[in-house]
Amino acid sequence: MRGINMNTKLNENYGDKIFCQEMVDEMYRLELVSKTYDFISQRQISSLITQPNTRCLDIGSGSGSMAEWLSKQPNVKEVTALDRFVHLLESKLSVSEKLKIVQHDLNDDDYSGEFDLINIRFVLMHLRDRHNLLKKISKWLKPGGWLIVSDIIDISPEAVDDPLYRKVMSTMWQVLINSIGTDKNWSNQLNSEFQSLGFRNITNEVYLPPISKDSPMAEFWSLTWQAMHDRLLEMSDLDDQTLTDAENRLIRGNMVALSPGMMTCIGQK
Ligand SMILES: C[S@@+](CC[C@H](N)C(=O)[O-])C[C@H]1O[C@@H](n2cnc3c(N)ncnc32)[C@H](O)[C@@H]1O
Repeated sequence: MRGINMNTKLNENYGDKIFCQEMVDEMYRLELVSKTYDFISQRQISSLITQPNTRCLDIGSGSGSMAEWLSKQPNVKEVTALDRFVHLLESKLSVSEKLKIVQHDLNDDDYSGEFDLINIRFVLMHLRDRHNLLKKISKWLKPGGWLIVSDIIDISPEAVDDPLYRKVMSTMWQVLINSIGTDKNWSNQLNSEFQSLGFRNITNEVYLPPISKDSPMAEFWSLTWQAMHDRLLEMSDLDDQTLTDAENRLIRGNMVALSPGMMTCIGQK
């Protein structure tokens, strides 16, 4: 792309050009997220689905792993897996009476529903209108229903004594901010957002996964940098060799660090 640099602000959205589903490895990249975080999300949600006939919504379903898991829980009556892009989901999930797929862009207003539990993980941080979207989603919850919002918490890179990793990671965040409006610090305000929406029984949890040999997160960040490779070169002072070295290093697995992690905020309407 001509004429863009570190100071350019683009008006793109997640999936337009960055992380579009046509990328060869996109489903695999999303599965690495599931591999890393599903066990925590599942533990968190298990304690909330204690009533029979629970209706669930999983927004920005990605690989569909959480929606599929939810659909297998005995107290769950119905699960809706909602995403702006559904063709990968449709090729992966077996739709049934209990599990349906809805194609919807959360920024649009032509969808609503009534649910007992809504899960939205690593989505709102990437959407510019996140504050209003959170408000909109909370209206889709029945009284007494549970909202589980998880987003990135980035408290690791500064502590990593590895200049190459730190440089590429911080450049990646800046390019995401400038391209699609990502806010990697948004999770810090989830608590107060939940409070001002009147949620009760609010709890928080943070998990920082490892980046080490054979860890899914090492491969995830390497694939993420590869997916953004051209954009990172266009919009920063990184050069091709430095970026390629950083990508390969993560794949070879000779780095030990804590990845940026997941902050979860849970509240009851
Ligand atoms: C980083 S992935 C997270 C996937 C999954 N929630 C997880 O945690 O494994 C973000 C997901 O949100 C979806 N998404 C992005 N923008 C969206 C929008 N405006 N409306 C609905 N879904 C969106 C993407 O297609 C993608 O599946």
